[in-house]
Amino acid sequence: MIITGSLPARVAGIDSISPTLKRFRFEPDGPAEFPTAAPGAHVLVTLSGPERVWKNAYSLVTPPEERGHYAIIVRRVEQSRGGSHFLHDVLRSGDRVELSAPASLFPIASLARKHILIGGGIGITPFLSYLPVLKARGAVFELHQFCAISEAETFRGLLGTDDPRVHVHGTGGRPVLEPILADQPLGTHVYTCGPEGLMRAVAETAKGLGWPANAVHQESFAGAAGGRPFIVHLARSGQTILVEESQTLLEALEGAGIEAPCLCRGGACGVCLLPVLDGEPEHRDHVLSEQERAEGKIIATCLSRAKSDRLTLDY
Ligand code: FES
Repeated sequence: MIITGSLPARVAGIDSISPTLKRFRFEPDGPAEFPTAAPGAHVLVTLSGPERVWKNAYSLVTPPEERGHYAIIVRRVEQSRGGSHFLHDVLRSGDRVELSAPASLFPIASLARKHILIGGGIGITPFLSYLPVLKARGAVFELHQFCAISEAETFRGLLGTDDPRVHVHGTGGRPVLEPILADQPLGTHVYTCGPEGLMRAVAETAKGLGWPANAVHQESFAGAAGGRPFIVHLARSGQTILVEESQTLLEALEGAGIEAPCLCRGGACGVCLLPVLDGEPEHRDHVLSEQERAEGKIIATCLSRAKSDRLTLDY
């Protein structure tokens, strides 16, 4: 199995954390150490199966100064398009892999006087690299992890139970956010990562309580969902490529050997935006404004698709 990318690495260990969660530890494949990663950074892991290639983004759960190895935690998703299945069921210790250099889209706000971290399920992962940094800085923080009752013990095991600032809410129901976000001191920032519903609820609750928008930070874990197949035509090269039902536009471009830009692969960074010359995009990203969506002149290739049968890109 060959996994391509820019940091040669080897799978140094795979631990089962729960029936659906595994931790994968990667070590550099060679004498060089990995680069230092910022807290909350992610890497792209490129997985080459016999019939297709996946490039998935995962938050590093290792402390930022750790250069001897990187680790990620991945949930096996039954409805996934295959990346988590491949990691859980095919990847073995000793396999050679290549990772992208770490990228940071979810940094700790350096001027914040207090930090509130709110995770939902596997959305806890970026906060596992925040915690050692906040503790080392002596920062004022609280962490609230919301999860199903059945997973509460798993997350307590990951986070530890001896820190009164860390709370695992294994309620499974609608998260109660008002008591967490109300009456916080000026200069508090909130960070949330997890399911869309949780992140929306945090943003709406914070807004309702009068939080400034720039004190609310989110890391989207939105995976790409499939859709109706369509044709993409690249005006500059003249290439015409089919985007299949289970592929993203970005994956179809990569599958055709095109070096398309990307960073988060989750609709959050805007690096993959390409100009649209013809056709109607179906926007699924989190970066475009309402006006940009309505104009339909630009598309985030990592998540968005086409409403029309054909899309022509200026690329
Ligand atoms: S790669 Fe980040 S928005 Fe598409």
